[in-house]
Amino acid sequence: MTTSTILLQCLLVIAFVSVSSALSIPDPLKDVPSFVNPWHPFKNLSGCHMGENRTGIANMKKYLSEFGYLPSPLSNSNFSDSFDSEFQDAILSYQRHLGLNTTGYLDEKTIEKMVSPRCGVADIINGTYTHGRNLYTYFEGNPAWPNTSRDLRYALIATSASTIDVATLRQVFASAFSQWAAVIPMNFTETDSAQDADITIGFYSGSHGDGEPFDGPLGTLAHAFSPTDGRFHLDASETWVATDVTKSSSDEAIDLESVAVHEIGHLLGLGHSTIEEAIMYPTLTVRQRKVELTQDDVSGVQNLYGSNPGFKGVAPAGVAGEMDSSGSAEIIRGGLGVLLGLGILVMTVIL
Ligand SMILES: *[C@@H]1O[C@H](CO)[C@@H](O)[C@H](O)[C@H]1NC(C)=O
Ligand SMILES: *[C@@H]1O[C@H](CO)[C@@H](O)[C@H](O)[C@H]1NC(C)=O
Ligand SMILES: *[C@@H]1O[C@H](CO)[C@@H](O)[C@H](O)[C@H]1NC(C)=O
Ligand SMILES: *[C@@H]1O[C@H](CO)[C@@H](O)[C@H](O)[C@H]1NC(C)=O
Ligand SMILES: *[C@@H]1O[C@H](CO)[C@@H](O)[C@H](O)[C@H]1NC(C)=O
Ligand SMILES: *[C@@H]1O[C@H](CO)[C@@H](O)[C@H](O)[C@H]1NC(C)=O
Ligand SMILES: *[C@@H]1O[C@H](CO)[C@@H](O)[C@H](O)[C@H]1NC(C)=O
Ligand SMILES: [Zn+2]
Ligand SMILES: [Zn+2]
Repeated sequence: MTTSTILLQCLLVIAFVSVSSALSIPDPLKDVPSFVNPWHPFKNLSGCHMGENRTGIANMKKYLSEFGYLPSPLSNSNFSDSFDSEFQDAILSYQRHLGLNTTGYLDEKTIEKMVSPRCGVADIINGTYTHGRNLYTYFEGNPAWPNTSRDLRYALIATSASTIDVATLRQVFASAFSQWAAVIPMNFTETDSAQDADITIGFYSGSHGDGEPFDGPLGTLAHAFSPTDGRFHLDASETWVATDVTKSSSDEAIDLESVAVHEIGHLLGLGHSTIEEAIMYPTLTVRQRKVELTQDDVSGVQNLYGSNPGFKGVAPAGVAGEMDSSGSAEIIRGGLGVLLGLGILVMTVIL
């Protein structure tokens, strides 16, 4: 037997093995273990409170620092596993920003939020926090597109890593932009030329050159920069869905249009909102579809650009009013930053 026949036989065996293993797993998506979520281990900390030392708290501190709730540790030291008062303050701040009850410990609802996939833009920039209940927010310095830019062009520049075909991507992004165009006097037009575009959209894996690497399935989903940067990046490792996400059989299905509507809010200058129903809330759950602007989103963006003359309505009822029982709806001006513009995504501010 010659060397080349042996090689050929080996290849055939390999081919046979891979075919048969593919056959034995009819739907790989159904067998995805729950630990693909990088934040799943936080579930182990449920119930943890001040004074306890538990394995995993250091990782949660890292998470909170990534989204602006704790300063980064000094370069030569690590976070500790101890539930100290600084960590408690960070938890309280997180609970305020996410519209949760401010219990100061890791209650079940708080853990549930933390393990949810979310926008990569931080919720707080530079550690500033404004008292009271914040609803919609802006990036630090209120960056917005100048009044000479009311017809923005966008380009899909990196789509090869996406499993969705380009024609469908075009429809999804056009539909997402139209949500915002309906309420402010601005038009969004697709262009084929990246040079000619104000906004560029692409799918990337892991590190992709902006200091905000993506983390694989779930975890952070996407990020976008504040005006007038225009970059909008999606994590290519997500199970992006452009059809009816609520009927998806995958436990990692993320609705592309829902994330697109959120990120476009960042591109226009909005930070994260504390209102769970708002598009600009930082988290989204798997198989969730959320593409309609709420009153909070509309107020935030109209305050930057004015109202579209064709806009009649007030957004779906009962959203802002319900949450604002304190009457202290306060706009953080300058309290939030953008990831990348400053240097994040989750979008520089979240979602
Ligand atoms: C937790 O760890 C800190 C040091 O990291 C220590 O000072 C403290 O006594 C520990 N507390 C408990 C309850 O073990
Ligand atoms: C979960 O928490 C327990 C109790 O604190 C700890 O002993 C265990 O190592 C933790 N497991 C993981 C996977 O972190
Ligand atoms: C920080 O953590 C890394 C990796 O876990 C470890 O190698 C290093 O020694 C730690 N540094 C300190 C100061 O504890
Ligand atoms: C907050 O606490 C109230 C009263 O205990 C409870 O009814 C409500 O569901 C809690 N909300 C959240 C988001 O945990
Ligand atoms: C916020 O951070 C940016 C860059 O990290 C810095 O230039 C700016 O001075 C900071 N602002 C405040 C108020 O600390
Ligand atoms: C655009 O903004 C400039 C200054 O920012 C202002 O002078 C000008 O009147 C504005 N133009 C319109 C059409 O609003
Ligand atoms: C947007 O486009 C419509 C029709 O294409 C046009 O009538 C309108 O003036 C444009 N608005 C702006 C702000 O450019
Ligand atoms: Zn990026
Ligand atoms: Zn966001």
